[in-house]
Amino acid sequence: MNGLQLIATGGALPGRTITNDALSRMVDTSDAWITSRTGIRTRHWCTEDESAATLAIAAARQALDRSGLAPADIACCVCATLSAPDATPSVACQVQAALGLPENRPALDINAACSGFLYGMAVARGMLTTLGGQYALVIGCEALSRLMDPTDRSTCVLFGDGAGAAIFRLADTPFALTLGARGSDVLHAGGPSREGSAPITMDGKAVFRFAVDALPKCLHTVLDETRLTLEDLSWVVCHQANSRIIDHCIKALQADPAKFYKNMDRHGNTSAASIPVALNELAESGQLTPGRPLACIGFGGGLTWGGAILQY
Ligand code: ACO
Repeated sequence: MNGLQLIATGGALPGRTITNDALSRMVDTSDAWITSRTGIRTRHWCTEDESAATLAIAAARQALDRSGLAPADIACCVCATLSAPDATPSVACQVQAALGLPENRPALDINAACSGFLYGMAVARGMLTTLGGQYALVIGCEALSRLMDPTDRSTCVLFGDGAGAAIFRLADTPFALTLGARGSDVLHAGGPSREGSAPITMDGKAVFRFAVDALPKCLHTVLDETRLTLEDLSWVVCHQANSRIIDHCIKALQADPAKFYKNMDRHGNTSAASIPVALNELAESGQLTPGRPLACIGFGGGLTWGGAILQY
């Protein structure tokens, strides 16, 4: 059994909702500019009491409850984030403690920016196949509002906070995974060893060019590997950076726009959380068809990228 099957999801969004109009009172911007360039209308930012870890715990708890599994069934916990509140304990270890997952199981955070959830799936699958066990908990969580310069209009309008969690099972279902990376600082956020604060900075046009190249390539790679076509997929769930990136790819692929899920209008760009948050919304609204494959495609800082075909 080499594939990963999605069996349950959970999600959590923080308490503050920030509209484009609210942002236009903070920086020199407008709802019209943000909506037309990005498709984003609102996003959620953490309150003082919230963090990527509190959101991850809430999302993971929901996924575990919905799976019908016991904590002891979870063989590993992998959390993708670039905005963990603590260097240690990791968010994954905080989830392990909060959910009462068994002690003799691995739990770790990984950082592959917006591709983190795809990387997390690969790490989880590797741990299941090398260490044993059937079920893995993979989380994507971010508190990007903590890394932004709220006075920089070129970035503060783009990002949001949130968490999504998924429980996967090793299964003989259609599955493919591709990952890649190319070191570049066109998208940058400082860590704790940097002097002073180094909030998110970005060469937006370079990131756009990278994304519209990586997205279709990842999709073709995983379709070829599974010998599936776009028509076979129920959904293509892309990283929700920007509506124009997805629209550009739909046009290039001559694909049906209805297959490409979009929720950045409500959440903005939540980096590693965007794909699992989207999967959770699709599952909650009954739009994931059991037995039909779907694709997840991530691209982001690093630069990193990744694609997967999996089944619900
Ligand atoms: N409101 C109003 N004006 C703005 C804003 C804003 N929020 N931000 C920038 N501007 C201005 C600039 O100052 C500039 O003004 P100028 O011409 O007087 O100098 C003008 O708008 C154009 O700025 P650009 O940066 O060239 O804007 P661009 O058309 O490239 O759009 C955007 C910016 C939306 C970020 C675009 O580059 C893009 O879509 N990039 C893709 C990258 C992306 O989505 N990144 C998200 C994170 S990365 C990831 O998740 C993979």
